[in-house]
Amino acid sequence: LDNGLALTPPMGWLTWERFRCITDCKKYPNECISENLIKRTADRMVTDGYLDAGYEYLGIDDCWLEKTRGPDGRMVPDKERFPNGMKAIADYIHAKGLKFGMYEDYGNLTCAGYPGVLGNERLDIQTFVDWEIDYLKLDGCYIEPKEMDAGYPSFGKLLNETGRSILYSCSWPAYQEDAKMLPDYGSIAEHCNMWRNWDDIEDSWASLTKIMDWFGDNQERLAKHAGPGHWNDPDMLLIGNFGLTVDQARVQMAVWSILAAPLLMSVDLDTIRPEFKEILLNKDIIAVNQDPLGKQGLRVWKKTDRGVRSRLEIWSRSLHDGSHALAFVSQRDDGIPYAANFSAEDMQMAQGEYEVQDLYKDEGVRQWNSEQDFEVRINPSGVKFYKFIPKTSRAASQSSSKSES
Ligand code: GLA
Repeated sequence: LDNGLALTPPMGWLTWERFRCITDCKKYPNECISENLIKRTADRMVTDGYLDAGYEYLGIDDCWLEKTRGPDGRMVPDKERFPNGMKAIADYIHAKGLKFGMYEDYGNLTCAGYPGVLGNERLDIQTFVDWEIDYLKLDGCYIEPKEMDAGYPSFGKLLNETGRSILYSCSWPAYQEDAKMLPDYGSIAEHCNMWRNWDDIEDSWASLTKIMDWFGDNQERLAKHAGPGHWNDPDMLLIGNFGLTVDQARVQMAVWSILAAPLLMSVDLDTIRPEFKEILLNKDIIAVNQDPLGKQGLRVWKKTDRGVRSRLEIWSRSLHDGSHALAFVSQRDDGIPYAANFSAEDMQMAQGEYEVQDLYKDEGVRQWNSEQDFEVRINPSGVKFYKFIPKTSRAASQSSSKSES
C-alpha cells in the first residue's frame, strides 16, 4: 500500500502471542490485557533500548473491548481494564515516542468473540482516528473469505480518507489460504501495508518450523509481492517466551530477517532473560531485516538426507549494497553441532572472493573464495547467520545485477 508507511518491515510489540485473551486482572494482574500491561511495556521499550533499535509500534491485539457497543453505537474499551479509555493510552504511548497499534475484525465478531466492525465501518474508523491510533490489524473471523477481495480494499479506502497515517495490517490472505482459495497477492500488496499469510504461530519449535517450511515451499508466489510499503507477515516473534531454546530463537530472528518480515515481539519485557533480549536487539541482524532494498529473501537450498532428523537448509537475501545475508539452518534434532560443506552453487553465490561476517559474532571474520567449499558447523535446531561482502569486482557486479533482477 502506497501510503508512505512501512517502507521497511514494521517493528514493534503486540499483546497476542504471549498474553492472549487474559482478562482476569484479579488472578493475573501482571498479564491481563490492560492499561497496566501497555504502560509498563511502553516504559520498557524506551528504557531497555527497544525503541532505539527500531521497535516503534506498541499494539493491543484482541480482547480489549466490552462485549457490547455503547448506546451511541461506538466501540467501548473494557471499563475495568482500560478505566481511562483509549485516548489516554494513546497519549501515554505517544509521549514515549512510540506509535499506537490497535486490533479489530472485519466480520461480525473478533476471533475471541468481541464486537467486530461489520456494519459500523465508518463509525469505528472515526473512533480509531479520535483515539489517534497509528496501526490497525484488521482480522478476518466471522466473515466469508470470498468477501474479503472487495471488503479489505473498501475498508482501507475509508481508513485512507481520514487523512491520518494508519498502517494497515490485513489478515485477508490467511483466511483465503485456509479456505484453499488462491489469494490475489497483487491486490493485497496494493491495498495493505502487511498481511498475515497463514496460520497463527504458537510458542514451539514445531510451530516455528512448520511456518518456515510453508513460507519456503510457497516462496515463488509470495516473495515477489514484498517490498517497501507492503510485506508478507509470518506472524509474531516467539523470542523470550517458553517454547524456544536460545538456538531456536536465533533461527527465528535470522529467518524473519531474510524474509523481510515484520518484527513484532510478544513477550514480557519486565522478565525477559538477557540472552533473548540480546537476540532481539542484535543491530546487524535488524539491519538485514530493515535493508532499504526491501527484497524478500528465499530458501535457496534444502536437503533431507534420512528423514526429518537430518534436515538442513540455506536461506539467502540480497542487500542494497551488493552483499548477501545467508542463514544456514539445521532442523536436525539429533546429536551435537553438525559440520557441513557447501559449494557456491548450493549457496547460489556468484564467483569471487568475499569477506564473511558472523552476525551472531561467535566466529571471527573469514575470507572465502567461491572456488572452495564453505564450511559451517551448526548447533542442533540452530543457525549460522553470515553476511557475505564481495571483495572482487566480479563478485560485486554479479551480485548487484542479481539483486536488481
Ligand atoms: C486470530 C489472529 C491472531 C489473533 C487472534 C485474536 O487467530 O490470527 O493473530 O489476533 O485472532 O483472537
